[in-house]
Amino acid sequence: MSLSALQEIERARVIHSYARFPVEFVRGEGARLWDADGAEYLDFLCGISVTNIGHCHPRVVAAVQQQLQQVSHACFQVTPYESYVALAERLNAIAPGPTPKKSILFSTGAEAVENALKIARYHTRRSAVVAFSGGFHGRTLATMTLTGKVQPYKAGFGPLLPEVFHVPYPMAYHGVTPQHCLAAIEQLFKADVEPARVAALIIEPVLGEGGFYIAPPEFLRSLRALCDRHGIVMIADEIQSGFARTGRMFALEHAGIEPDLMTLAKSIAGGLPLSAVVGKAEIMDAPPPGGLGGTYAGSPLACAAGLAVLDVIAEERLLERAQQLGARLITRLKALQAKYSAIGEVRALGAMVAMELVKNGSAEQPDADLTRALVQAAARHGLIILSCGVYGNVIRFLAPLTISDALLGEGLDRLDAALAEVSEAPTAATA
Ligand SMILES: Cc1ncc(COP(=O)(O)O)c(C=O)c1O
Repeated sequence: MSLSALQEIERARVIHSYARFPVEFVRGEGARLWDADGAEYLDFLCGISVTNIGHCHPRVVAAVQQQLQQVSHACFQVTPYESYVALAERLNAIAPGPTPKKSILFSTGAEAVENALKIARYHTRRSAVVAFSGGFHGRTLATMTLTGKVQPYKAGFGPLLPEVFHVPYPMAYHGVTPQHCLAAIEQLFKADVEPARVAALIIEPVLGEGGFYIAPPEFLRSLRALCDRHGIVMIADEIQSGFARTGRMFALEHAGIEPDLMTLAKSIAGGLPLSAVVGKAEIMDAPPPGGLGGTYAGSPLACAAGLAVLDVIAEERLLERAQQLGARLITRLKALQAKYSAIGEVRALGAMVAMELVKNGSAEQPDADLTRALVQAAARHGLIILSCGVYGNVIRFLAPLTISDALLGEGLDRLDAALAEVSEAPTAATA
């Protein structure tokens, strides 16, 4: 079926969604995707951070094929199976910190966040939650409430969950300091909710959808201390920042602290729907049997894929590779920044890399139009990238950690060409 025929049928039969690329991918391998006409694209998005080990990694394909020939579904809450338990054991072992851990598996990121919140509430017998402006935690009723952005996630979908309070997230480029954010929490505890009523504080160590702003390690350590002081469960949402993306298995490790609970999804299973809550055993064990779970949660196929993903990360030394890729990207993006005045800032934690596009070199003048145009131009040049950010002006780079230097360089050449196409004129420095 042609792409235009597919789009026409889609418009009639599927509810409208948001702007997407006018391309249908029919094959993927590593960092490359192909459309039905055989045109090749380089993927610097990984389906929004899902295929950190590349498309159709042979280890994942083999593991899922084998599992499919054995048993495809058993419903863990009815009959346990080995791959679920084996994956839980490995997640417990890699979770940051010395406290004994337990895990529970689900299917989507939002489900993991919902359940982390349920666990925190049950454990503390408290109800309120502190979350961050610009944070993204999902689209279910509870998680959209935690999400710190009204449009398009919350407006019209209320009433929202009560007792969720948002405080600012540090954004150095926009002058929002960690001190400002900590003061906002103290103010919240004075003006709106006593800390003894707060069940959880949830934070992405690096904002994902919110724009790849990186929480400074000392800020995360201050939050850890604050949670300890008040008996608040600290939830690290590592759904976008986890699984080797930042050069550590989890981004919070850069701060050297142990979260109470951690939510995982996206790259956990190389493209199969799988998510998890991993946390301190004592907290995880609080809810009663049957209080958490789901029919498909931790499906055998996804668990088989998850075990293969962990093997690939270790065997292909992807933590190290993420650091190298991040350094290469930053070097090249800084060179592009010298060439294109619209690039206001480039930033990275490992291979979680972003550039922020602005007008007149001013952080206060985000250029969302240019960002949108660049995403489309890049696609025309055969490069898949995506925007993010509270102002819609950040390009995120999430190339597979298995990408070769040559393909990374080629992708950045395509980015350069796309930037040239959408920029009015290169700056005088290199013109
Ligand atoms: C940090 C974070 N948390 C939660 C979610 C929600 O995950 P899902 O879309 O699988 O429900 C996302 C998705 O982008 C995310 O980036």
